[in-house]
Amino acid sequence: MTQGHRDKLEAVCAEFSELLSEAVTEESVRALAAKYLSKKGPLSEVMKSMKDLSGDERKSVGQAFNKAKGQIDTEVAAKLQSFAEEKRKAYLNRWIDVTVPGRQQATGALHLLTQVQKECVDIFRGLGFGMATGPQIETDFHSFEALAIPKNHPARDMQDTFYLGDEMVLRPHTSPVQIRTMQSQEPPIAIIAPGVVYRRDDDPTHSPMFMQIEGLWVDKVVRFSDLKGVLWHFVNTFFGKSLEIRFRPSYFPFVEPGAEVDMQCSFCDGAGCGVCKGTGWVEIGGAGMVDPAVFANVNVDSEAWTGFAFGMGIERMAMLKYGVNDIKYYYEGDLRFLRQFS
Ligand code: PHE
Repeated sequence: MTQGHRDKLEAVCAEFSELLSEAVTEESVRALAAKYLSKKGPLSEVMKSMKDLSGDERKSVGQAFNKAKGQIDTEVAAKLQSFAEEKRKAYLNRWIDVTVPGRQQATGALHLLTQVQKECVDIFRGLGFGMATGPQIETDFHSFEALAIPKNHPARDMQDTFYLGDEMVLRPHTSPVQIRTMQSQEPPIAIIAPGVVYRRDDDPTHSPMFMQIEGLWVDKVVRFSDLKGVLWHFVNTFFGKSLEIRFRPSYFPFVEPGAEVDMQCSFCDGAGCGVCKGTGWVEIGGAGMVDPAVFANVNVDSEAWTGFAFGMGIERMAMLKYGVNDIKYYYEGDLRFLRQFS
């Protein structure tokens, strides 16, 4: 009887070894072990008939059972160990092709408008102007009222403004930074204020969001000729060649006298071309002497101080310097365009 049990146990072990030798994955080894060692597995089946045996017989079959179980455990451990060893060897022998070219790391670059803004700011900083900024969501007071553009003033139409309720606007120009600076600083003041502005304009030459650069100089004696000299210096430095500028009388409520600023067309050096529509001149911004009414609004004594202010478009400058012939290229995010300036 007991011999019969032992034979069965041995047969189960042999069957297990056979199946184990065929297993090629860790999962299949584990599954096989779980099946053979489970309470309903083949080993346990053999043990079920043990209850008919005598005490001594039971003891010796019990030992045989434990031995068989131990054998299966040992075989499983050895098999798993051999898998681990194979993996380790494969890793150590892996083939590294040191001649494969490295992966290209794309380098980012500043947007053309950001570059041009910086170029402009740097030129004015070179003249001693400091940087100033203001919020894009601005009060009606800073955007208009303090700049001598009261409600219902026709000049409000010049800046077709996005209103955010009655008192707040998306600033339609950088001129509110003049007001903020004069409110927070005593003259003398010399600042350059670049920034984003918004207008209800959308056509091939206008974008509802664009960039301006504002300048303000307030000092004991600031003259109209200083304004012209500063802008002349800017144009000649920015374009890196000799170009004339000219002022045309114009009206902005916050300056008196006011002017529109033209420069000789940088494409044809003033000879006349498609960009300047044959005139030889292109407009680059507005400028003038700070109106005493503006000084009064920020408590600066206009008997003691004089000043000039100007505002120019960054997109315009970039277009003239780099030959960008459509404003939409700036905002489309087309890498073929952007990469030309990286
Ligand atoms: N703020 C004016 C505009 O946006 C430009 C300007 C600035 C004119 C400063 C005169 C002085 O059109």
